[in-house]
Amino acid sequence: MASLRSFYNYIVKDYLKMGTEIKKLKDLQNTEYGLEKLFSDAEDFLPLLGTDYVELYVGNAKQSAHFYKTAFGFQSEAFAGLETGLTDRVSYVLKQGKIRLVLTTPLDENGPINAHINKHGDGVKVMALWVEDARNAWAETTKRGAKSFMEPTVEKDEFGEVIRSGIYTYGETVHVFVERKNYKGTFLPGYKKWESHYNPEPVGLKFVDHMVGNVGWGEMKTWCDFYAEVMGFAQIISFTDDDISTEFTALMSKVMSNGNGRIKFPINEPAKGKKKSQIEEYLDFYKGAGVQHIAVATDDIVKTVSAMRDRGVEFLYVPEEYYDDLLERVGAIDEDVEILKQHGILIDRDDEGYLLQLFTKPVVDRPTIFFEVIQRKGAQSFGVGNFKALFEAIEREQKSRGTL
Ligand code: FE2
Repeated sequence: MASLRSFYNYIVKDYLKMGTEIKKLKDLQNTEYGLEKLFSDAEDFLPLLGTDYVELYVGNAKQSAHFYKTAFGFQSEAFAGLETGLTDRVSYVLKQGKIRLVLTTPLDENGPINAHINKHGDGVKVMALWVEDARNAWAETTKRGAKSFMEPTVEKDEFGEVIRSGIYTYGETVHVFVERKNYKGTFLPGYKKWESHYNPEPVGLKFVDHMVGNVGWGEMKTWCDFYAEVMGFAQIISFTDDDISTEFTALMSKVMSNGNGRIKFPINEPAKGKKKSQIEEYLDFYKGAGVQHIAVATDDIVKTVSAMRDRGVEFLYVPEEYYDDLLERVGAIDEDVEILKQHGILIDRDDEGYLLQLFTKPVVDRPTIFFEVIQRKGAQSFGVGNFKALFEAIEREQKSRGTL
């Protein structure tokens, strides 16, 4: 699988450089993602190579970094702050597999970072996307109506240059396009390597699978249209409030994906029920639209989740009844149901295979952002059963918070 992936990566990189020379790819019959998706990139005006980094604005980056190292097994990667010449902020970069988390705290009470934290609490500011051409990404998206966050900017140091540009998405969240093909440094110019004697073992997290946005009443269409029209994404799945509701509350969700399937952004909107939707709870506490969860992939969910639990990560509770008719719902699976049940791991299926998922409780004090651990075994999208189970698990938490 690993060699197939690297072969695929090689082909895609080559392909992006070649532009229209698609003929060479005709032999590629059985890549992981399929020829159809690969070819659809031919018309893709915004080719994305993957997630580059996720930046959270937090109240205390030093202590947050310690949490993500200890509990999630991230490794010290890079640092920028007073010691590197910055005067307004400090950023710690953590890495595990291909995932880069950037934790940024302001040193200036009047700046935009402090204003962001005041309003939203700790949360995701930047979902950065790795591109071949950051100037082109900015030009193509702003031309289609995106609001600019950052004009194409060249940053240099002795390791080369990085070009970044950015646009706004929902709420105050942004996408930054990162072009790093001419850079050999640790993270970005201006950062120095962060040497730390404390790097607990990684827990097996590999890459960002998807990031979910919660948006306000009636705004789901606006933002799905944004991903379709401004960024060239396609909708791969849709859940209505009939699919995802209980006696009391409801939500709606659509999943938007880019051409090669590497970037998936589900969008949730509250729906009317007898009581307050969990999406509304998020919007109340985050004070607007924002990132609800970051899903990180593993090759061995039982091992990863066991390690995280041992290190203090709290996961949502899944009732035992969930497992009663599990095999009837999802068919044969490789894992031992008893072990999945012990950990509260959810299983669902789409037409290509199955997937295993588990969700943490919020990682901050406001009931806002949380993480998902996901292992895909063939399935490329999402199943309604897990969506509903997640929804019900959050509803139980809402009840204990008195916000239902
Ligand atoms: Fe998710």
